Amino acid sequence: MKITMIGTGYVGLVTGTCFAEFGHHVTCVDKIEDKINQLQAGKIPIYEPGLDALVAKNVSEGRLRFTTNLEDAVPEAEAVFIAVGTPSSRRGDGYADLTYIYAAAKEIASFLRGYTIIVDKSTVPVGTARQVARIISEENPQADFDVASNPEFLREGAAIEDFMRPDRVVIGVESDRSEQRLREVYQPLFLRDTPIVSTSIETAELTKYAANAFLAVKISFINEIAAVCESVGADVTALAKGIGMDGRIGSKFLHPGPGYGGSCFPKDTLALMRIVQEYGESLRIVEAAVEVNSAQKARMVKKIRDMLGGSEAGKTIGVLGLTFKPETDDMRDAPAATILPALLEKGARIKAHDPKGMKEAKEYLPEGIEYMENAYAACEDSDAVVLMTEWNQYRALDLAKIKKIMREPVFIDLRNVYDPQTMKDLGFSYVGVGIK
Ligand code: UGA
Repeated sequence: MKITMIGTGYVGLVTGTCFAEFGHHVTCVDKIEDKINQLQAGKIPIYEPGLDALVAKNVSEGRLRFTTNLEDAVPEAEAVFIAVGTPSSRRGDGYADLTYIYAAAKEIASFLRGYTIIVDKSTVPVGTARQVARIISEENPQADFDVASNPEFLREGAAIEDFMRPDRVVIGVESDRSEQRLREVYQPLFLRDTPIVSTSIETAELTKYAANAFLAVKISFINEIAAVCESVGADVTALAKGIGMDGRIGSKFLHPGPGYGGSCFPKDTLALMRIVQEYGESLRIVEAAVEVNSAQKARMVKKIRDMLGGSEAGKTIGVLGLTFKPETDDMRDAPAATILPALLEKGARIKAHDPKGMKEAKEYLPEGIEYMENAYAACEDSDAVVLMTEWNQYRALDLAKIKKIMREPVFIDLRNVYDPQTMKDLGFSYVGVGIK
């Protein structure tokens, strides 16, 4: 099938490339010339494991190309996916900014030829697909098309695996022929028995928000339980096992940490709350999850301060990991971007390392943070080490060496990577999240 992907951001690029890997012929379009030039030259603007090789393979096999020209990309397409950004609006009210979606709808309308499905891949409020349909009909009354919603559930850092082996595919459709066409797009997954949830467009749009909100609630739940564990002297790791093995609860997303971050949970929880407000409803459980998440970051600042004897002023802190999670260079809403400025402001010296995110971090973090070439350089002469992001390369550090090069052997493990007893035996003053 001939597919056009509008937007070569994270979702568009991964999805377009994976569709090409399925055997479809995919054209990815973006307005940013520089990005398209880079992609045409084989350079991938984001870090996502395996993506560079998959792009190169599909380009060389003639199934994937990049252009800025809609006229070159849209007329032949049987399916046009819209995967442009939906950031929080600049008004700061939490609403999703749909400017780019509506602009894309307007721009593709006049180039549609023959029956085409227009699929919203971006995370959009309920009713957006209908607006897209209205815009296209107004621009081009002759256009023969259907709109559909096909939310994505990809995790950064594991996006290709998530795409190729999803738990389910959700499609929101309103006609048999659009359903048929979307099923054809995902045909290779049906051969692997991937369940498909076919529903109304509105249900599909809301399903995406509900999924992310539920996961955010789950993380905030375990973070709050972790705080209770600290107070009562219980162990959250064992507790998470104890509840997670119950199939009704499930063990995933029960890892306490410095709070969820990234481009999705923080933005989508706020957008969902705004959507329900418009309908005169409220989602108090999601509101609570958002509050708990910001409190969690403040709690982490206090934890670090306490471990430094009550004040971070004049102390050197080595920070391992800056991105919101491992295997990405993404710094959007990373807990580090809240926690580190708070420490810096109170007079701490911060020496940080991240395997992939230091270039991005410089844009998100205030001046004054020192970026080190490896984990050990960050730990050297420090009064405390904070493990912020659980990159694999921080899971087997030479701890004896670290203890030797630190000024004070204080290890603050915000991802519970290390075993408390082992750390104690090594002579560290160690603290995790929700463990004794
Ligand atoms: C999330 C969802 O997991 C995807 O299904 C969804 O498609 C995506 O948002 C999106 O809407 O595009 P992502 O933001 O890439 O994916 O990352 P996650 O792996 O979900 O992690 C989000 C945050 O939660 C990270 O900061 C992570 O450290 C934190 N987290 C996750 C925890 O603190 N504890 C956990 O147990 C799990």
